[in-house]
Amino acid sequence: MVFDFAKPASLLRVMMLGEIYSKAGRKAVSMHLPRLRHEYHVDLVIANAESAAGGYGLTVGTAQELLKNGIDVLTSGNRIFDQREMVEWMGTNPQEPVLRPLNYPAGTPGKASFQFKTALGTVEILNLNGRVYFNEMDSPFRVVDQWLDQRQQAGRVFPVIIDFHAEATSEKVVLGWYLDGRVSAVLGTHTRTPTADARLLRNGTAHVSDIGMVGQYHSVAGLEVESALKPFITHLAGKSRPNKRPAGPVTFNSILLDIEPVSGRSLAINRLDLMLDDDTK
Ligand SMILES: [Fe+2]
Repeated sequence: MVFDFAKPASLLRVMMLGEIYSKAGRKAVSMHLPRLRHEYHVDLVIANAESAAGGYGLTVGTAQELLKNGIDVLTSGNRIFDQREMVEWMGTNPQEPVLRPLNYPAGTPGKASFQFKTALGTVEILNLNGRVYFNEMDSPFRVVDQWLDQRQQAGRVFPVIIDFHAEATSEKVVLGWYLDGRVSAVLGTHTRTPTADARLLRNGTAHVSDIGMVGQYHSVAGLEVESALKPFITHLAGKSRPNKRPAGPVTFNSILLDIEPVSGRSLAINRLDLMLDDDTK
């Protein structure tokens, strides 16, 4: 089934996927994203990939796999360095479209923004992390002000899309309003639970508190149900595990944005939430 999200040819359409979780999420991307890109006339695909490697961070191989399978820019968050190989790789591959949050401590390897060229002009993607429950981060409000000031001084006027990777809905909603009219979109990630509050704010910034995930449907935000239950029932907390075998249907949570390329103003934000069949059957 294809939902009818008609798009005027003059508008830039961006698809952003929720957090790609483990092998089930990566497999759904490789099986379905090329078709969805085409069906929905998408100019740019962004995805949060910080749990793509077995639920714990990203590896070089999983990043390359996702970029090969139809994603243009990968964002992340608090788990980007779970796999140690990413520490060096992020520092030595500045040309790659793989981001970590801007408000990590000074000196952290990697970059937080990337300019992607589409047929309708350049779009800049910025990654920020929340501070509620992430106290080691600098203030996303202050660092984004500095970043936007520097950008303005450099004369860069094209659209900006922010992945705001944060836990608290309150912080995500407030950052949206704080940046209303200054960026094209503030899209939340991290909880892997989609929220029903996608909307256009007063001055043309699109916002959603959390996009959700691309991962196994029969799970607790991607985690194996039994291992996620254990700490609540027994207080004998073991390590929660991602589902080992990607069997069963996959939740595909995403956002479609339509943006005026020159003004950077968003004209539409729609959720595209699908349940994809188990292709392993
Ligand atoms: Fe996270």
